[in-house]
Amino acid sequence: MKQYLDKFSLDNKVVFVLGGAGLIGEEIVQAVASAGATLILLDVNSKKAKAIVEDINASGQKAVFEYFNAMDLEKSEKQLEKIWKQYGPADVWVNASYPRTADWPRSLEKMNLSYLRKNVDAHLNSCLWLSRKIALLMKKSEVQGSIIHLGSIYGVQANDLTIYEGTKMSGEISYSAIKGGIVNFTRYLASYFGPDGIRANCVCPGGVLDHQDKQFVRHYEHKVPLKRMAKAEEIASAVLFLACEASSYVTGTTLMVDGGWTIV
Ligand SMILES: NC(=O)c1ccc[n+]([C@@H]2O[C@H](COP(=O)([O-])OP(=O)(O)OC[C@H]3O[C@@H](n4cnc5c(N)ncnc54)[C@H](O)[C@@H]3O)[C@@H](O)[C@H]2O)c1
Repeated sequence: MKQYLDKFSLDNKVVFVLGGAGLIGEEIVQAVASAGATLILLDVNSKKAKAIVEDINASGQKAVFEYFNAMDLEKSEKQLEKIWKQYGPADVWVNASYPRTADWPRSLEKMNLSYLRKNVDAHLNSCLWLSRKIALLMKKSEVQGSIIHLGSIYGVQANDLTIYEGTKMSGEISYSAIKGGIVNFTRYLASYFGPDGIRANCVCPGGVLDHQDKQFVRHYEHKVPLKRMAKAEEIASAVLFLACEASSYVTGTTLMVDGGWTIV
């Protein structure tokens, strides 16, 4: 009998997770480490990242933390080359970061040009610029790697603004543009590097439950077919699938992990 579960193993694989100290990133880190990968956690939150890495090492898996600021695009190519030389070649690159300015989110009325430019640069341009470099490094190292981006339901659909009614929460207009850009950039990357055996995919989560306003949660649960918000680990399982051999013929896809939000 064939051993299909072996295809989900990341034994002897090196996985870089940018934003690995975040709500979703931390679960991704746990998922890939539990599948056997050596983990390189890149983040600006040194304190939390160090604690995560310590925890993983204590459980017998291998993990290291490197400070990495995705908004520092001028330095990023050199820094990625350095990290690649030190810990690579990487088999998997996951970008689960959420780079944004301190005054994020802003309403449509209160947005200004400087805010817009900074946030598009921080989130969309960094995703593109870093993955471009990683794909080139994978190609040079002849690694048939997997690149995974985090999109969003709002990368494929407009916000349903009614879910914010009665709360202080609001949609963010640049977020849809950024996430839509990430979804389609992922397809481009998959097309460009397909002949090299490098895959690129996008996981699009629905809202993850995280102490949001109760009214917002009620609206959200009412709307979504599974009648609840996501758990971060449910997003991480999808990332794990795209990281390992089980998804070897999946590239350029937009994998919705949204409890059915986008089908109704
Ligand atoms: N949480 C959700 O409900 C949800 C839903 C859909 C999509 N997403 C997407 O999933 C991804 C992760 O979201 P999250 O909720 O885990 O976010 P989060 O804010 O909890 O975590 C983001 C991580 O990115 C790190 N980070 C921020 N700026 C950085 C920078 N300049 N350089 C490097 N690292 C940086 C943070 O330190 C943090 O560890 C994001 O792309 C987000 O848009 C999240």
